[in-house]
Amino acid sequence: MQAQTLPDLRRLSFGNAIPTQPPSILTQHYAPSAPQLPSVIAGLAYLQPTRERPYNYMYQPPQGEPWQNCEYDVRAMRITDARSFSARPSVHVEGFELWDAPSAVTNFQDESAIVDIYYREAAELARAVTGAQRAYVFDHLVRKREAGRPALTFGRHGDGTQAAAAGRIHNDYSEESGRKRLGLVLQDAIEAGAVERYSIVNIWRSIKGPVLDTPLAVCDARTVSATRLVPSEVRYPNRTGEIYLVEHSPRHQWAYYSAMDRHEALVFKQYDSQASGVSRFVPHAAFDHPNTPPDAPLRESIEIRCLVIYE
Ligand code: OGA
Ligand code: FE
Repeated sequence: MQAQTLPDLRRLSFGNAIPTQPPSILTQHYAPSAPQLPSVIAGLAYLQPTRERPYNYMYQPPQGEPWQNCEYDVRAMRITDARSFSARPSVHVEGFELWDAPSAVTNFQDESAIVDIYYREAAELARAVTGAQRAYVFDHLVRKREAGRPALTFGRHGDGTQAAAAGRIHNDYSEESGRKRLGLVLQDAIEAGAVERYSIVNIWRSIKGPVLDTPLAVCDARTVSATRLVPSEVRYPNRTGEIYLVEHSPRHQWAYYSAMDRHEALVFKQYDSQASGVSRFVPHAAFDHPNTPPDAPLRESIEIRCLVIYE
């Protein structure tokens, strides 16, 4: 078998963001599900099928109400290191792409640097990755794992403190909340009415060193059937959001990028207004990597949510 190198000379016309190259050690007999690809087996928390509409409180629930009304079904799933893929995934097919896109922001504790600098960079990256004309970053979240707290939690500030890694499989928008988001972002019904197609993407990156602890797994959108996506409420003090929780399917193919570093950005689709022919939902979850060194620094990451409009 002949080793094949996969040089990537493609450069994009803006900044210094280029798609990250796959490694050069792949053979010609590559197949995506081949067991020789680097992968790990880890538990991923699917939704236990339920007759009720699932909800989660993001704040101390009213007297007598539980934090959540659903249970999780943790399945051992194979999660393949996407750095070993011979063909680079596409945001509109598999639903995710890794880009080499350094940020000028050095301190992600500085909220104004995030909003003033990072939002602009992220919007530019989102346009380059998706091919859209316009991009609006409308939300961000910094996550930090803290020693002594459970590695994997759910949602924003489940216990009122720093957001931690989100260990339950979810998609940030449902068909309905994705549809509503356009009007919320544009705040102009006429402008919103003129939009033909738009997507919502997340951009996720490390804000410390390479992520060895609780990395993020993403599910190949082509393997996601709508019948396993369950609209679920996320209850905040002043509003209720709708996401998807996900029931297990053996078809799901999971991937992650090993040791993602600060200069890399993972862009993944969370909604597409186009109903067919493109990726629409990329369920994702943090997972306990079985090979995490005991002294690995705890993960710190930032994610932004961005609505892009094609014209
Ligand atoms: C996200 C997300 C979970 C995590 O980026 O939308 O759910 O643990 N992230 O980083
Ligand atoms: Fe998410």
